Amino acid sequence: MKIFDSKSDVENYLSELKNDNKTIGFVPTMGALHPGHLSLVKRSKKKNDITVVSVFVNPTQFDNKEDLDKYPQTLKNDIKLLESVACDVLFAPSVEEIYEDRIEAEKFDFDGLEFEMEGKFRDGHFDGVGTIVKTLFEIVKPNNAYFGKKDFQQLQIIKKLVEKHQLPVKVKGMPIFRENDGLAMSSRNTRLTIEHREAAPFIYKTLKKAKKKFGIKNVEEIEAWVMKQFKKHPLLDLEYFTIADESTLKTIKNIAPNKKYRAFIAVFAGEIRLIDNMQFKIQNN
Ligand code: PAF
Repeated sequence: MKIFDSKSDVENYLSELKNDNKTIGFVPTMGALHPGHLSLVKRSKKKNDITVVSVFVNPTQFDNKEDLDKYPQTLKNDIKLLESVACDVLFAPSVEEIYEDRIEAEKFDFDGLEFEMEGKFRDGHFDGVGTIVKTLFEIVKPNNAYFGKKDFQQLQIIKKLVEKHQLPVKVKGMPIFRENDGLAMSSRNTRLTIEHREAAPFIYKTLKKAKKKFGIKNVEEIEAWVMKQFKKHPLLDLEYFTIADESTLKTIKNIAPNKKYRAFIAVFAGEIRLIDNMQFKIQNN
């Protein structure tokens, strides 16, 4: 695996490969890699000639300094993991290399997607994500880029970024990877205390139970039911639960036929904020 920390070096290396008509698949990450990330790398390897992974903890997408300071950084182990799946190129720049002396996000208009859910609770988060993803796309110039659906709102926003800025890349959303007990894989899971880690699968279990109610109970009743489950839980604090239209991400009041819906949830497990989501469909049986 080739490892770069300089924008111009990785850009030059990849532009030669592109001139040779090689296709480039790209997996942007913030490191602390887990099997969910590796599944994106494997997918990219299947579909492209060259796979590039970036590891960069992007300061402009954190609204909470402590979360940024404590974000796990495990580059040595990440390199081992990437080598184990035969990743071709790793780009791991410093903050200065990306932002020079101005650590600031650009402002974006994502047609309102940025004001829903995570946007309400994490100020400026999606401007930060838009800034870094656009910058990385301009450096790597991938044909295809792979993102996990755990951050479903992020995925929709990146699709919007690509559409609005006419970036020549196809954005692919890949299934959520879960631990055996159902907890969605996340780099933040390593920061959970033992008791919070044991409690956390309750989030997935509650989503699954709520899904069974979809189409039987109305949206308001399901939301109230979920809130009640978390009120009773001694270790988990619900920040939000909402059922939304998959394309607009707007909370729904009523269920209409032929629309795709998804439930979104954010929960504090002690200090650690966890998110998850699940597609909700009317059951036909
Ligand atoms: O999902 C992430 O890990 C990050 O938000 C991303 C897309 C790598 C941008 O920093």
